[in-house]
Amino acid sequence: MVPSPLAMAPWLELPYDIQNVTPEEDKAIKKCLLGYTKTFVKCGKKGYVMPGAFRKHAEAIYNMRVRPDDIWVITFPRSGTTWTQEMVWLIENDLDFKAAKKQPLFDRFPMLETTSQIPEVAFELIKANFMNLGYFQGLNLAVKVPSWKTIDEAPSPRFIKTHLPLSLLPPSLLNTAKVIYVARDPRDVAVSYYYLHKMVSKTLMRSTFTHFWDAFRRDLLPWTPIIEHTNEAWELRHKENMHFLFYEDMIKDLPKVIRGVSKFLDREYSEEQVGQLADHLSFKSFQKNKTVNNSANENGEIQFIRKGEAGGWRTHFDAKMVVQADEFLSKKLKGLSLKYPSLCNTDGETTYL
Ligand code: A3P
Repeated sequence: MVPSPLAMAPWLELPYDIQNVTPEEDKAIKKCLLGYTKTFVKCGKKGYVMPGAFRKHAEAIYNMRVRPDDIWVITFPRSGTTWTQEMVWLIENDLDFKAAKKQPLFDRFPMLETTSQIPEVAFELIKANFMNLGYFQGLNLAVKVPSWKTIDEAPSPRFIKTHLPLSLLPPSLLNTAKVIYVARDPRDVAVSYYYLHKMVSKTLMRSTFTHFWDAFRRDLLPWTPIIEHTNEAWELRHKENMHFLFYEDMIKDLPKVIRGVSKFLDREYSEEQVGQLADHLSFKSFQKNKTVNNSANENGEIQFIRKGEAGGWRTHFDAKMVVQADEFLSKKLKGLSLKYPSLCNTDGETTYL
C-alpha cells in the first residue's frame, strides 16, 4: 500500500484565482464544445481556460506530492503527447515492446486532469456504461475516481501526462521530477485539436473549423492560451530536470530526439536499438498500434493518430485565417525569446507565413 502523500504534505492554498469566463465567452466556447453545463473558468493571471469542473480538482492537483522517480510529459493538447509518452515509456522500460503492446498507453501513462475535462452531460452516462466513450483514454475509471487521485495512489515509478501549464502544477515539480515538454506550431495544433473534437463524437461537435479557429485564437479553448503555456516551459528549458522538445524536430530527425531523451533520462541505447525504437514510433506503425491509437470516431474516418505532419495547417486555413494567424502569432510572440522552428527562417529570425 502506498502511503497517501497528501496526508504528509502541508496543504498549500492556490496561489492563483479561478474566475468564470464572461457569458459571451462561455457561449463562444460552448459553440465549439457540447455537453458542458457548468460555466468555463479562467485560471490565474494568464487566464488558462478549463471546464468549470476544474474548480473542484485544482487544489488537489496543485498539492500532489511529486516523487523523484516520476516522469512527467507536459504539452498543450495535440502537440505530440502520445508520441512522446510512448517514446519515454519505452526508453524507461528497456525497450520492452511486448509489454507496451499489452497495455493501453493511457493506463501506463495516465493523464492527471482527465476527470475535470469530461463534459457534465457525458459524465453520468459514461458512469452508467451508457456511452461508448468509456473506452476512450481511460474515461471509465476517471468518472469513478478522480484521475489525480488514481495517480496519487499509484506505485512508483509513475509516468504522468498532463496538459496543464507549469503554473497550475505542484510548485515542487521541477525540483523533484524529470519533465519533458513538447511544443508544436500553434496553427497545426489548432487543426489537430479541431479533428480531435470531431473524432470524439459528432454529437459533441457542432462547430465548423472557422468557429473553432475563432475560439482558439481568442484563447478560449481548454488549456489555452497556448503561447503562454509553451513560454512558461521554454523559459525553464535550461533547468536540469527539464527537457524541451518541438514536434517539428521529432518529425525531422526522430533518432536524434530519441538519443536526446535517452541522455536526459540517463539511459544508454545502441544505434540499432535507437533504430528499433524509431521504427516502432514511426507514423505508419503508430497508427496501426491499438495501444496508442485506440480511438477513432464512429466510422473510423478520423483517427487519434491522424496525419502526423508539420505544416498541414496550410490546407485548412483560408487567406483570412492566414492573416489572422500571423497577427495572433506576432502579437503573442512579441518580446518573447520563444522561437518555433516552423516560424524561423534560416537565420533563426521569426517569420510567419
Ligand atoms: P495530427 O492531428 O496533426 O495528425 P497528441 O498526442 O498530443 O494528442 O498529438 C496528436 C498529434 O500528434 C496528431 O497530429 C497525431 O497524428 C500526431 N502524432 C502522433 N503520433 C505520431 C507519429 N508517430 N508521427 C507523427 N505524428 C504523430
